[in-house]
Amino acid sequence: MISYCTGLFTSAIVYRQYFHRLRYFPGPWEAKITKLWHVWKCRGGQNHLFIDELHHKYGSIIRTGPEELTIIDPSAPRVLDGPGNTCEKAVWYDFLLPEVAVNTTRSKKHHDIRRRIWDKGFSAKALSAYERRVINYTEALTSQIDQISREGEAVVVTDWFYWYAFDVIGDVAFSKSFNMLRDKQWHFAVKLLRRAMSLLGPFSPVPWLAQIAFHFFPWAYLIRDWFKMLRWCKQRMEERIHSTMDKSDVAHWLIEASPKNGSLTSDQQWLNGDAIAILIAGSDTVASTLVFTMFEIACNQSRQNLLFHELQDLDIYNREKLQHCDYLNAIINETLRLHPAVPTGGYRQSPPGGLIVNGTYIPGNVTIVSPRYSLGRLGSCYEQPRSWIPERWTTKKEMVKDATAFSPFSIGRYSCVGKSLAMMELRFVISMLVKRFRIDISDMDKGDRLFFDLRDQFTAAPGGLELRFHPRT
Ligand code: HEM
Repeated sequence: MISYCTGLFTSAIVYRQYFHRLRYFPGPWEAKITKLWHVWKCRGGQNHLFIDELHHKYGSIIRTGPEELTIIDPSAPRVLDGPGNTCEKAVWYDFLLPEVAVNTTRSKKHHDIRRRIWDKGFSAKALSAYERRVINYTEALTSQIDQISREGEAVVVTDWFYWYAFDVIGDVAFSKSFNMLRDKQWHFAVKLLRRAMSLLGPFSPVPWLAQIAFHFFPWAYLIRDWFKMLRWCKQRMEERIHSTMDKSDVAHWLIEASPKNGSLTSDQQWLNGDAIAILIAGSDTVASTLVFTMFEIACNQSRQNLLFHELQDLDIYNREKLQHCDYLNAIINETLRLHPAVPTGGYRQSPPGGLIVNGTYIPGNVTIVSPRYSLGRLGSCYEQPRSWIPERWTTKKEMVKDATAFSPFSIGRYSCVGKSLAMMELRFVISMLVKRFRIDISDMDKGDRLFFDLRDQFTAAPGGLELRFHPRT
């Protein structure tokens, strides 16, 4: 047995190092042998920093696993997701199995069917129905912040923005708010979901290990939370299916379309999976973007003033007008460039015939990842890439040398279906808060924890942040 194992592992190591078709690509030697090394390296959940470090050491195409390349080249997003690409979603998306959802199915046929249904749930008509709810929650958030600041306290914005984003998505998705803004505390299901999500940090490089853990250790800490979280999401969808009231929410469109759905008709699995997808994709992303935007605004008083001037005489309830505020949009873009809500994720598999990225041939059936965190910091694309300068999207356009890599919501068939809703939330919250308050960094918190505790668990999970809100007279 021992000699069998020694022979097996030695031949696998020698093959992967010296004879494998990816052997010419640079990268740490351990990564060429096993993906487990990567798991070890990002056990603290900071994969985005680890990959960025490798990028500086090894260049723009790095072998980060026996069958995996990380590509930090501006052309990569277009090659992988742009028009005419023939890439597929990589094995990472099997993470949710046996559940299936629009964002995790690897079958293009099934994805296209589900995506058409989801698109209806985010059409212009559907969005107008969600708008009033988004405004209500934004007003509730603003009034809670007002109350706290009048008591002279700093506001723990990481909590409040998460409460906001989850309340909105609970209501928009299932007509059932988590009521965290009202109760001023975390809902147990959201706590569960966030704990379960932390599995995606260390396990992302090896989704098969997560599957093994799900099967053999369902009682283990975090994995238990994962299953509880799945059960809770399914229950919400079931409640919604059996509810007799006609509600304008995303679930309405998903349920409505399902019976006309050919082979997917009887498959309750899709609805369950989609319930998980919307809660995760629609909340963490918006919350983390709000946290980082407010941090940058608080650190840049002169830019905060410019934004205030843009908004001062504007009726921010007029969504049409708000969406044409150049400086507000620039602030959101710049935040998404520097602090992407999906820092690394978006694993693709090259087509069997391979593909070309910036003149380099990438063989077929290779997992490819092109992390937004590092793409957004490329000196070849942006001047002063590590500084937050919204003007690069307005009056100093020369500071963006190459915008092809900028795709915070991704592009192509797998791009974000919730982009318009997300932008609506971001614009309402940022504009309402900046109009009502001068926002300042707190004496006690200069943003250290925000970055130190930032975790890359497919979506970004920022560390704690306190800010001071001074009501404007
Ligand atoms: C700032 C906010 C947001 C950002 C930056 C963002 C970003 C992204 C990105 C990069 C993807 C592609 C992921 C991949 O390739 O696997 C994606 C997909 C997706 N997003 Fe978002 N997202 C945001 C908000 C939302 C919201 C509010 C919703 C829903 C309510 C949502 C729902 C989805 C769904 C369902 C997909 C999968 C689409 C598909 O595969 O067809 N997102 N998002």
